[in-house]
Amino acid sequence: MNAVPNITLNDGNTIPQLGFGVFQIEPENTVEAVSEALEIGYRHIDTAEMYGNEREVGEAIRASGLDRSNVYVTSKLSNAFHEPQDAREAFDRTLSDLGFDYVDMFLIHWPLPTLYDGDFMSTWRALEEFKRDGRARSIGVSNFQIEHLDQLAAQTDTVPAVNQIEVHPYFTNEAVREYGREHGILTEAWSPIAQGGVLEDSTITRIADKVGKTPAQVVLRWHIQRGDIIFPKSVTPSRMKENFELFDFELEQGDVDEISALDRGEDGRTGPNPDTFAYVPG
Ligand SMILES: NC(=O)c1ccc[n+]([C@@H]2O[C@H](COP(=O)([O-])OP(=O)(O)OC[C@H]3O[C@@H](n4cnc5c(N)ncnc54)[C@H](OP(=O)(O)O)[C@@H]3O)[C@@H](O)[C@H]2O)c1
Repeated sequence: MNAVPNITLNDGNTIPQLGFGVFQIEPENTVEAVSEALEIGYRHIDTAEMYGNEREVGEAIRASGLDRSNVYVTSKLSNAFHEPQDAREAFDRTLSDLGFDYVDMFLIHWPLPTLYDGDFMSTWRALEEFKRDGRARSIGVSNFQIEHLDQLAAQTDTVPAVNQIEVHPYFTNEAVREYGREHGILTEAWSPIAQGGVLEDSTITRIADKVGKTPAQVVLRWHIQRGDIIFPKSVTPSRMKENFELFDFELEQGDVDEISALDRGEDGRTGPNPDTFAYVPG
């Protein structure tokens, strides 16, 4: 009933379409949350250096007794370490903190076009090294806009396997998703329920009532039917279960389209704009 589909990336590897995100889970709560997620059946964990909980993610996976090969793990390069040598050292620390000798996916977390002289190309070449040496099975980017993807395409050799971007019913981010579709880059939709902000929308609650599912399940199912990869975050076990139960129902195309039409363009964005975001951890 709850078989999560695997999607094939442009490098031939596969990724579970549904995972569990750990942004804003405090390190002291992370082992418990990830353990519960693995117990429920999640086999894909999305973390990042900047989340400060890689160590605990690794600990929970080891404690689960699951084989490492059965859990898909993504991490992301901190904004502080875009210089290639810094990126190499940061990636070593990621593996050491996780306690693994590889990650399934490693991403540049933000393009930071106003920092580092706008040079994320040399950062990307460092990630290409990690892929070549097998310590990152796949590599990708996050929060890249079309112009950033175009620059990578013009100046580097590897097409990112994924682009992890903000996508939810109020910010459908269609142009960037479309670029991905045209270039073999899968979209990972972050904040898939807009951190809860779309769950009281009357269109969504009406469809939820009609299909007999919760608003969160309807929105997450909408992402799944659009082909994006998602990893909702929750520290609440009942919600973690709810968010995992997406494969025993289907939305009609009309409902999918109606939810897509809730898009508010730039006004719907809840997170930073990647063109100007320039946060570097201190
Ligand atoms: N690459 C990036 O720049 C970036 C940025 C943001 C996020 N992400 C990734 O995307 C993941 C998900 O995004 P997110 O954490 O920002 O937001 P989200 O998954 O859209 O929403 C999480 C919030 O919604 C609540 N929630 C979860 N399930 C619910 C349900 N069924 N019913 C009602 N409320 C529910 C959670 O509360 P409780 O926890 O209290 O239950 C939490 O406050 C992150 O964890 C991270 O892995 C990446």
